[in-house]
Amino acid sequence: MTLYHLKKLKSSILKTIKFYQRSNNVNFFQVISFFNLRFFYSSPFFRKFFKVKNNFPSENKKLYDENFGLEVEQGIVIKDLLDIGISKKYVMNDKNIDKLINNYVIDENKIENLDFLKNKLKEKKYLNDLNYNNVQELVQVMQKNDISYIKYSDHNISSELKKLILSNSILGVVRKYLNYSKKILVNNEFVVSINNQKLHDKELKYNSAQFHRDLVSHNFLKVFIYLNDVNEFNGAHVYIKGSHKNNNIGNVLRYYSDNELAQSKNIEHVMGKKGSIFFEDTFGLHKGGVISNGYRLMLILTYYSPMKHQLETNNHYLIS
Ligand SMILES: [Fe+2]
Repeated sequence: MTLYHLKKLKSSILKTIKFYQRSNNVNFFQVISFFNLRFFYSSPFFRKFFKVKNNFPSENKKLYDENFGLEVEQGIVIKDLLDIGISKKYVMNDKNIDKLINNYVIDENKIENLDFLKNKLKEKKYLNDLNYNNVQELVQVMQKNDISYIKYSDHNISSELKKLILSNSILGVVRKYLNYSKKILVNNEFVVSINNQKLHDKELKYNSAQFHRDLVSHNFLKVFIYLNDVNEFNGAHVYIKGSHKNNNIGNVLRYYSDNELAQSKNIEHVMGKKGSIFFEDTFGLHKGGVISNGYRLMLILTYYSPMKHQLETNNHYLIS
């Protein structure tokens, strides 16, 4: 065992103890499951045992969803994901997008970081400002109060969102990438981000705007959907291709500055118009891009095959 492994073992044990302390009613197997995630499945070597075996092109099904006008070729997406960790250039029609946005924005209860926002508004004595009727007004409130990031989550799942989550075009890819796992959980986040150019490190990390790896479970896949046009000035998502399976750079679960990864030749900036969809294995290094002008609206669906400690503790939507 090297020093690296010893350090990792120590931090995994500490994290597991914290997990045990903050959750009630966890059994022995769930504690072990949490430890396995931190210690073993934070390494590409162990993760690859859960990956689907690609049998492209014999199974390159065309998946089409009429409601969202979304067409993807299953085999191509899976091949992209296995090879480089990201598959993009899919677009859904925008007739349902405003409904999806409004479903989050009009309901204050769906704000995940509400306490933080209210504190910030109170400090500035603008408490009444958290009244808005649409996303444009919301962005104005954010600008006026120096709020760079608001995250929503819909635990009840509106009917429009449910259609998207269960869309044949998306689920066809997800099921295969998750190796036809019997149970799949999904959570949804809607993120509104504005100018983040001058933020300090701590806030950048909080906004997921510094390179990092996600560690959701032993096998998971994220689907990102831009709900407005996104270009190099308003937060194009950034991914380091191939980093989900090779880890010469940044193989530890921590944040990485741009400088540390500047040498990488595999940096991908994802731009796209409203309705653009991309699939990404976010165990690979990624971050939200810099916003120097405008704002970004993004919906993130995280599908994962749950581990023992995740089945009962989450109110995430279950697909069986
Ligand atoms: Fe992330």
